[in-house]
Amino acid sequence: MPEPTTPAIPRPDPKDPIRVVVVSAGLSEVSSTTRLGQFVADETCRQVRARDQRCEIVHIELRHIALAVTQTLISGQVAPEVAAAHEQIARADAMVAATPTINASFSGLLKSFFDTLPVDLLRGLPTVIAATGGTQRHTLVLDSAVRPMLAYLRAVVLSSALFVTADEWEGTAPSQELAERISAAATELIHYAWAARVGTFAI
Ligand SMILES: Cc1cc2nc3c(=O)[nH]c(=O)nc-3n(C[C@H](O)[C@H](O)[C@H](O)COP(=O)(O)O)c2cc1C
Repeated sequence: MPEPTTPAIPRPDPKDPIRVVVVSAGLSEVSSTTRLGQFVADETCRQVRARDQRCEIVHIELRHIALAVTQTLISGQVAPEVAAAHEQIARADAMVAATPTINASFSGLLKSFFDTLPVDLLRGLPTVIAATGGTQRHTLVLDSAVRPMLAYLRAVVLSSALFVTADEWEGTAPSQELAERISAAATELIHYAWAARVGTFAI
């Protein structure tokens, strides 16, 4: 009797990479928020490539287009830099949305940018939400503020959410515990992005 075979995992077109977009609302030149988003995206792509699939990361640093975002909001005309960011999100399979905690909520820059998005641009986009903060007292900023906004915009906001304070870094590298949380979030992100492409999880 022949051995039962495990069916091959359906996979995306190998020529068409999984695209991860990081939207970072970090305000400082050397931003821990941007670094956090980058670590999540890097780990996501590392895990995608371990499945012999190509992966690309695009970084939207909102600080660099802040004036164009404001111009778009007050003029109603989408500035070219903002349109380019929209285009990158439209092409993405997965998003990491990272913000510093500002006055017990997310950064106004993140809100302003999301206020420029065309209706339905985020619909169905698997998204990991991440925040940096000065105090663990504001851990719930993700679930009380960022998650409802993105849910309203119809993103698929994953259960993994990363709130990170300064003491969770060892220099510029994540602590062991933070690295494990990042890895778990990345795994969840891949599963949803992969499933959106081929209709089944990347097990
Ligand atoms: C104006 C301002 C308000 C802040 N409010 C809070 C806050 O309410 N809760 C908190 O945990 N951290 C707060 N922080 C600290 C930042 O969230 C924290 O330093 C963050 O990691 C900075 O991110 P960055 O390194 O990307 O600039 C605040 C920082 C600033 C500048």
